[in-house]
Amino acid sequence: MQAEHSVGSITKAQQQLLYQKACEARKQAYAPYSGFCVGAALLCSSGNIVLGCNVENAAYPLCLCAERTALCAAIAAGERSFLALAICGGKGEEMDAPCFPCGACRQVIAELCPPEFPILLSNGVYLAKDLLPYAFSLPDCAE
Ligand code: THU
Repeated sequence: MQAEHSVGSITKAQQQLLYQKACEARKQAYAPYSGFCVGAALLCSSGNIVLGCNVENAAYPLCLCAERTALCAAIAAGERSFLALAICGGKGEEMDAPCFPCGACRQVIAELCPPEFPILLSNGVYLAKDLLPYAFSLPDCAE
């Protein structure tokens, strides 16, 4: 499931730029408890790129993930349509290994992005539908 996925209309150069932006956003991470810093860069259909980083809290369950801070910032800014998300994360200076989104982030991505939505990691491109098959959605709880 590595790098061979096409990413719609997004060029290789745009992919690289998006991943680079995620790595820049990672520098803003507030992660004094885990030391695991994550950055996310969300390409919106408007062309805007919205950044996110993880924000931890002494009350550990309140920690916010980079992917969700980016998606929530984008929604708050009026964005409603998204083309791709890049994620860059790791402990200390390590950031070569792919940083996969956690289960909660996968569910939020499934809510706001299409099934074919590309997620760019350090080792290639994954699709939202592959990272969370059978995602819960509103029709699942409708009568
Ligand atoms: N983290 C993210 O930002 N995104 C993920 O998808 C996985 C985990 C953050 C949360 C926490 O601040 C740190 O990484 C360690 O779990």
